Amino acid sequence: MSHGKPPRSPAEIDAIKKRVAAIEAWYHRIDLGDGIETPGHFRMSDYLAPYHFPADMTGMRVLDVGASTGYYAFEFERRGAEVVAIELPSWGDHDWTPRYRRQFAAKPTLERDSIDRVAMLDGFTVVGEALGSTRVQRRFLPIYELSRETLGTFDIVFSGAMLMHVRDPILGVQRMRDCCKDDGRLIISISTTLMDATEPIARFVGEWNQCNWWQMSPRGLEEVLKCCDFDRIEHRDSYVLQDVTGQFRDPTFVCHALPRVG
Ligand SMILES: C[S@@+](CC[C@H](N)C(=O)[O-])C[C@H]1O[C@@H](n2cnc3c(N)ncnc32)[C@H](O)[C@@H]1O
Repeated sequence: MSHGKPPRSPAEIDAIKKRVAAIEAWYHRIDLGDGIETPGHFRMSDYLAPYHFPADMTGMRVLDVGASTGYYAFEFERRGAEVVAIELPSWGDHDWTPRYRRQFAAKPTLERDSIDRVAMLDGFTVVGEALGSTRVQRRFLPIYELSRETLGTFDIVFSGAMLMHVRDPILGVQRMRDCCKDDGRLIISISTTLMDATEPIARFVGEWNQCNWWQMSPRGLEEVLKCCDFDRIEHRDSYVLQDVTGQFRDPTFVCHALPRVG
């Protein structure tokens, strides 16, 4: 996966391996070619089918909200898209509970800076450079600040497994709708323990892991989408996300939402 670049020299391969190894925390396991794989927890290439992404994204603008170490952003680019990848400016900008916020603020500045670099910044940069990426731009904004005035509009807005981290998911979906072209779509996944609930419910789980606020049933998410000016739901699907050890199992619901126009 070297995006049509010339073959790498042994020295270049070695340099990429060293940069990958220097980063302590990886979220995604990403194939960088030449036998190099980022040592992340989740190999998302195993779970592409339930997302029903277009195979060819040539000419599309795609917004990847909560891009983390970038598996999806670079996959969209590989399929032909121009991508804007959104990530929080820093670890401290998550919607933490006040208690965790106090604990985090009490850490030495050096430690906080290192968490920011390791968890939020460096992995994505290393992956982009290793893949020879040219059409992925990263912007550091919380979901609440997405707007068509600052980012333009997109054929696909993608939100993978991040809405449960957002204290106000309805506002988050409204901001994503604002960035979606009228003939575009939102492709969204949520992790949910309420897969079989038939009611449109959300369960408060704010004390779990400090930064997971809401678990929604699939119907709950669909009702949120509908009240945020998405009126048609397509490609409902689900899968169980497992980490590479197989110990972590997260049931995940996926759907496409099409904007209501007028
Ligand atoms: C569980 S990871 C999912 C990563 C990737 N989208 C995927 O599906 O594999 C959630 C990501 O959302 C980001 N995130 C959390 N809260 C956010 C917010 N309020 N605004 C923007 N991004 C946020 C986190 O920093 C993290 O990178």
